[in-house]
Amino acid sequence: MSAIIMDGKALGLKIRESVKLQAAGLKEKGIVPCLAVVLVGEDPASLSYVKSKEKALTEAGMESRDIRLPESTSEEKLLSIIEELNKDNKVHGILVQSPVPKHIDEEKVIAAVTPTKDVDCFHPVSVGNMILERQGFLPCTPHGVLKLLREYKIQIAGAHVVIVGRSNIVGKPLANLLIRKEYNATVTLCHTGTKDLKSHTLQADILISAVGRPNLIKPDMVKEGAVVIDVGINRVTDTSTSKGYKVCGDVDPAVAEKCGFFTPVPGGVGPMTIAMLLQNVIEAALKRRVYE
Ligand code: GUN
Repeated sequence: MSAIIMDGKALGLKIRESVKLQAAGLKEKGIVPCLAVVLVGEDPASLSYVKSKEKALTEAGMESRDIRLPESTSEEKLLSIIEELNKDNKVHGILVQSPVPKHIDEEKVIAAVTPTKDVDCFHPVSVGNMILERQGFLPCTPHGVLKLLREYKIQIAGAHVVIVGRSNIVGKPLANLLIRKEYNATVTLCHTGTKDLKSHTLQADILISAVGRPNLIKPDMVKEGAVVIDVGINRVTDTSTSKGYKVCGDVDPAVAEKCGFFTPVPGGVGPMTIAMLLQNVIEAALKRRVYE
């Protein structure tokens, strides 16, 4: 059986077209949706993510307020910049690319972004609102995964979803969204403390890996016909490419021979994250998602 590829690039572009129309509508009312994108340091992967986000914003007719700060930036300086952005009425959303350099306390940075502009949904108040199903932004990657599942008409209600990875950005929020009544999935959340990972993943109707380990999920860990969502974005050395590396997911490509549906890396979940980020900036400009 040959699996169906879930094309996040195509769906992401479709969402970005809709975002573009919404941005044009806002512009007619004199509002230019604007996201401040803050990057501290020169981590190459972070720089590449940030550039993709900024390009997508511009292409959608939105403003990208690009803020690049040196690695040596103090915590105090970064917090004062965030405070300025919080007060700036022209800025609707604020994104501080993670991770920040080690000498800066990331928790403080996350807590400094006002929840009304927290388009990443990282602030404890945003996370609380999401879990309690109150008004507020939805986290971009988990929301993108749900959109992809819906687009391919995957049966989520009653399905056993096994998530591998308990990160604050993906695993934890995704588990919380999937147990909402509107999705009605039964969720197992696996992590580094899980004994016999394979015994769990084999039970998954929908298997989602978000750990950042290349080829962690092997064909013998996947049920025949399962839906496999690969959230991993890993850079592995490959001297045959001009960049000296290639990007791969957490899932061994051989899994495609066994599963029913899968997301490619690149071109699966990654483009969905950006599309949902843009949608959140629109929501912020409309003040639709804001819980005050
Ligand atoms: N680092 C990796 N993913 C993300 C993300 O979605 N948002 C931010 N701000 N940083 C990240």
